[in-house]
Amino acid sequence: MVNTKVQLSSLTLDNPVIPASGTFGFGYEFAELYDINVLGSFSFKGTTKEPRFGNPTPRIAECPEGLINSVGLQNPGIHAVIAEELPKLAKCFHKPVIANISGFSVDEYAYCCELIDKEPQVGLIEVNVSCPNVHNGGMAFGTDAVAAAEVTRAVKAVTTKPVYIKLSPNVTDIVSIAKACEEAGADGISMINTLLGMRIDLNRKKPIIANKMGGFSGPAIFPVALRMVYQVYEAVNIPIIGMGGVSSADDVIEMMLAGATAVQVGAANLIDPFAAKKIVEDLPRAMEQYHISSLKDIIGGAH
Ligand code: FUM
Repeated sequence: MVNTKVQLSSLTLDNPVIPASGTFGFGYEFAELYDINVLGSFSFKGTTKEPRFGNPTPRIAECPEGLINSVGLQNPGIHAVIAEELPKLAKCFHKPVIANISGFSVDEYAYCCELIDKEPQVGLIEVNVSCPNVHNGGMAFGTDAVAAAEVTRAVKAVTTKPVYIKLSPNVTDIVSIAKACEEAGADGISMINTLLGMRIDLNRKKPIIANKMGGFSGPAIFPVALRMVYQVYEAVNIPIIGMGGVSSADDVIEMMLAGATAVQVGAANLIDPFAAKKIVEDLPRAMEQYHISSLKDIIGGAH
């Protein structure tokens, strides 16, 4: 009998598999397909202070081994998330959820995080400083160590729950940004968000995506994500949630060997809504294949 439990700050997860923000809605949509309580947790759609309609369409471009999205943080706003989405989730999910919060100013991040921190079902706050699809927000904070640290400090000052900063790979030195967040009080790091990418429609000879560029995710980015998790693990002493192209139980194990304590599954959910469930179910088999009795023992094992 293998042990899939992991400890993510104050949360004990039954397993490390977590659908990533933006690929799993507010959870209850997927609860119509299967019992989402099999998951370790999940991260809900990036939420801002005001409701957002998102970017113009087309917002998606398919690519070999992945896809580009430019959703633009479409969400109903923090007040509707608290009043409407979380009560619906509570009826079908009986574990702590990860709240993904985005913003356009330090004050907005702090405002939303202070509110969401009070929600009993929220177990961990994932501060998204890495959305590549909005102007003057999101990634603007995550590509600069000083700005990322400023957001971290402001959020930590008004919250009680673990705060994980979700970092962008669209930087020359992700390690220095992770370290700045740790020094500013972050309880953990989530990494990586999508890589800025682009496709051109050969018939129209124009970008496929209305916003021209978007975030590239899917299996093609797995080696990049793994490399960054490996590097950040060597530089910080706080837990890492690893993500980027994870689509199998083997990928979860690889990501944990690089240094992740838990692992998010993103684009795979968009291709197959049962992807995260299948990974959870396949983990014990993969653990037996690689002679792993307890997942927590392999974290950072490749170093
Ligand atoms: O466009 C989006 O909503 C994506 C958000 C993200 O990648 O953080």
